[in-house]
Amino acid sequence: MKFENSVIDLIKKRTSTRTFEFKEIDPNLFQKLESILKDINEDAVALSGIKAKFFLSSFKNLDLKEEKKIGTYGVISGAKNYIVGIVDQDEKNAFEFGYLFEKIVLAATDLGLQTCWLGGTFKKADFEQIMELSDHEKIAIVSPLGYKKDKLRMMEMAMRKVVGANKRKPWQEIFFDKSPATPLTENEAAEYAVPLEMVRIGPSASNKQPWRVIKIGECYHFFLSRTKGYGASSFDMQLNDIGIAKCHFELSAESLGLYGEWINQSPEIGPSEWSYVCTWKAEN
Ligand SMILES: Cc1cc2nc3c(=O)[nH]c(=O)nc-3n(C[C@H](O)[C@H](O)[C@H](O)COP(=O)(O)O)c2cc1C
Repeated sequence: MKFENSVIDLIKKRTSTRTFEFKEIDPNLFQKLESILKDINEDAVALSGIKAKFFLSSFKNLDLKEEKKIGTYGVISGAKNYIVGIVDQDEKNAFEFGYLFEKIVLAATDLGLQTCWLGGTFKKADFEQIMELSDHEKIAIVSPLGYKKDKLRMMEMAMRKVVGANKRKPWQEIFFDKSPATPLTENEAAEYAVPLEMVRIGPSASNKQPWRVIKIGECYHFFLSRTKGYGASSFDMQLNDIGIAKCHFELSAESLGLYGEWINQSPEIGPSEWSYVCTWKAEN
C-alpha cells in the first residue's frame, strides 16, 4: 500500500478521536478511501486467508439528538461515517484482521481524516441494521471517520485518562535481546530501533500494549502477553493488537528499506504466559 505521507509520520500522528465536526467528508477523499477498501477486500483479504471484509457506512440521515444514542453509547460524537470491519462468525484470526484494519486507519490518516478503533463501545445491533450482514457474519470492529473537533468533550478527556492513552510502556518492558531476561536497548536494535518504536507507540484495546518482541540474530519474534482478566469475548481484541504491531513494524521497516519476511518459527524462548504469534526474519 502506498501512502502520500511518510508512514512513520502517519503512525506518530494517529491518535484516537472521539469528538468530530458534524460535517460531510470531502467526496474525493471518501472515494479514495472506498477504492483503498476495494483493493483490500479484493486482494489483501484473499492473501491473508481470513474471512473478513471492510466497508464505509454512514449514519447520514441522523439528527444530532438521535446521534447521541445511536451507535456508540455517546462515546463518539459528531461522526457521520464509520469504517466497519466484518468477519465470519467462526473466524478466529483476529491477528490478520488487526493488521488489515490498521492499514485502513493509516490510509485514513494519510487522507487527513481521524479515526478511533472501537471494539467494545459500539452497539452491534445498530450497525447490523445499516450493514447487510448474512447469518454467518458479525461486526468485529468499527471506527468513526471524519474531522476532529478542536475541543475535546469531558467524556473524551475522562476516557483518555482512565486508560492512560498518552502513555506507553518503556522499551525495557516489551523488547528483549535473546531471552525475556535481557531488555533490548535502542542502540542494540540499531536500524530496527524505528520499526520497534512504531510498534511501541501503536494503539491497543484499553491501551494494554500486549505486544512483546524478542530479537535473536536477524529474527524478531512477536509474542502476545495477555492481560489477566481481559477475556477474549467473541472477538480476540488482544490478538488483534498484535496484528496492529505487525502492521506498524512491517510498513515502517519497508519504508526505511529494511526488508524481510514473516515466518512461523515457534521458538521456545518466551515465558509460558506469553503466546507466540509470528517472526520477522530480516534480510541480511
Ligand atoms: C482493538 C481496539 C479496540 C478498542 N476499543 C475501543 C472502544 O471500544 N472504545 C474506545 O473508546 N476506544 C477503544 N480503543 C481505543 C484505545 O483505547 C486507544 O487506542 C488507546 O487508549 C491509545 O490511545 P490512542 O489511540 O489515542 O493512541 C480501542 C483500540 C483498539 C486497538
